[in-house]
Amino acid sequence: MIGHYLIGLPVEQLPTPALVLDYEAFMANIATMGDYLAKAKVNIRPHAKTHKTPAIGHIQMNAGAIGLCCATIGEAEVMVYAGIGNILVATEVVGAAAIRRLACLARHARIMVVVDDPANARDLSAAATQYGATLHVLVDLDVGQGRCGLRSIDRLVDLGKLVDKLPGLEFRGAFGYEGHVQFIPDRAERTKQGQAANALLVQGAKALAAAGLPVDIVSGAGTGTYDIAAAFPGITEIQAGSYIFMDGTYQKLGLPFKQALTVLATVVSRPTDDLAICDVGLKGISPERFNPSVQGHENAIEVQKLSEEHANARLSGGLDPRPGDKLHFIPSHCCTTVNLYDNLFVTRGGIVEAIWPIAARRA
Ligand SMILES: Cc1ncc(COP(=O)(O)O)c(C=O)c1O
Repeated sequence: MIGHYLIGLPVEQLPTPALVLDYEAFMANIATMGDYLAKAKVNIRPHAKTHKTPAIGHIQMNAGAIGLCCATIGEAEVMVYAGIGNILVATEVVGAAAIRRLACLARHARIMVVVDDPANARDLSAAATQYGATLHVLVDLDVGQGRCGLRSIDRLVDLGKLVDKLPGLEFRGAFGYEGHVQFIPDRAERTKQGQAANALLVQGAKALAAAGLPVDIVSGAGTGTYDIAAAFPGITEIQAGSYIFMDGTYQKLGLPFKQALTVLATVVSRPTDDLAICDVGLKGISPERFNPSVQGHENAIEVQKLSEEHANARLSGGLDPRPGDKLHFIPSHCCTTVNLYDNLFVTRGGIVEAIWPIAARRA
């Protein structure tokens, strides 16, 4: 295994930049989500796009997840062939090659996919029939995000009826992800908009049921809305992903999850009294939403600039890190940072305890 000789060493001895997972915080996050949803009697099908790591998928399944969501067929293939047998591909799968892959994968695991187009449903049906597979299907409703998904409940019902008739497909229910609500900072406003999105989805599910369709899944929500959706009557499962790691964006919402993921970097230069240059840049941490913060020094360090392999960190309050010192950076978005690394260094009490391959990072 790459880096096996690093196991058992203090985290500060890792070559940097390194993607580091605090195991205890990560497991606490899984327990917090699991306990909350068990009490709410709502299922969790966590989104694996966050971690792309089969070891984490297995931990989530062992903790009670009913399956995993995946954002790409490649992710789904990696998870299935690592032994995880229940996957929702939570996006439309279109085009002959992709549909063939999906149908063939469905001969090895229970695969569910979302659809928002009649021609696509027919293509999925033809491939499932050709390869002797069953594809489970959720019809996708846009609940305000403005990405994929049907824009009207009438069309949702028409598509549901078509799916229910087509050979090789098994209609299972409704899907609607309220991505536009996840990061609304004000809790009351987030709740209001989350409930509006959930209400639309449940209205769609009821219309499908009224048309005689067997709706047993109504799926939505992410880390910013898991509790809002879980409290909404009619939502049966939650697709949250980032809660396991957290990041700078979700940290601002005051959620009950701990920051478990950091990028360890080394101070490589102190050109002035108030500037530290560190060895992590755009190739090692995602600045997708805003620049990273530095754990434990949120008020004394401001990352002002990232270049390819460097971060310019402005110091204040007398902070004086020396070249060679290590700092833990918190990305603004965990998912787009994890995808930059081959391995996750898993630590407990500051000691590297395991190295988990991020096997689906290129998938
Ligand atoms: C379809 C879908 N479901 C759920 C999520 C929620 O993910 P997270 O909890 O990481 O915000 C996402 C995020 O992009 C998504 O695209």
